Amino acid sequence: MGIFITFEGIEGCGKTTQVVLLKGYLEAKGYKVITTREPGGTELGEKIRQILLNSNSENITSWTEIFLYEACRAQIVKEIIKPALEHGRIVICDRYIDSTTAYQGYGKGLDLESVHRINSLASQGITPDLTFAIDLKPEVGLKRAWARINNIKTTEREDRFEREGIEFHKQVREGYLKMAEKEPERIKVVDGDRDIDSIHREICGIVAKKLETAKG
Ligand SMILES: Nc1ncnc2c1ncn2[C@@H]1O[C@H](COP(=O)(O)OP(=O)(O)OP(=O)(O)O)[C@@H](O)[C@H]1O
Ligand SMILES: [Mg+2]
Repeated sequence: MGIFITFEGIEGCGKTTQVVLLKGYLEAKGYKVITTREPGGTELGEKIRQILLNSNSENITSWTEIFLYEACRAQIVKEIIKPALEHGRIVICDRYIDSTTAYQGYGKGLDLESVHRINSLASQGITPDLTFAIDLKPEVGLKRAWARINNIKTTEREDRFEREGIEFHKQVREGYLKMAEKEPERIKVVDGDRDIDSIHREICGIVAKKLETAKG
């Protein structure tokens, strides 16, 4: 079996940036790496992503939302993540089950037990070996995220969550920190309020250690 690594954290904390850098680091070491993202990652999933992240979907209910996320997840696990792990690849996913727990559970207040249950069903119980929760104040993350969104010249903006109030994002952040406290072996909190390279080096150190233990 391969190794499954996920990146988590609020909007603009630096997930996608670090996914790209980690992929480069691992490939330079000779590993076969597959990167993907949630929601999305498959043809069907990318269609659902548009519904989920577009601000035209404002009247979506929390339960509709969660089932759409889980539909995406069922597809990406079956089509991409599970086969790649079975082929011994390192799979890096930009957001995964912990996003649902943080946003729909801690953020929107759906009961955590139900969230865990449907997460587990859609993911076929495939839990990451290692998860980086990049921690950042929402004020800083949202500023970065908006700067990026405003640079995209399209009407199909993925900005529904950025439009949520600051209190929502604070709850999401707190949720991630609580989850990391509960599962310290898997979820590593990394301070995102530093330069990109320092964060990258810390992440590489943790991944290198994980790869060592996986070998032995
Ligand atoms: N450590 C950092 N310091 C300053 N700027 C950063 C840092 N990391 C990323 N950025 C910049 O902030 C913006 C958001 O970063 P990125 O897209 O990696 O975040 P994200 O967590 O993937 O966001 P989203 O949840 O919206 O996908 C980008 O323009 C990126 O270049
Ligand atoms: Mg991103």
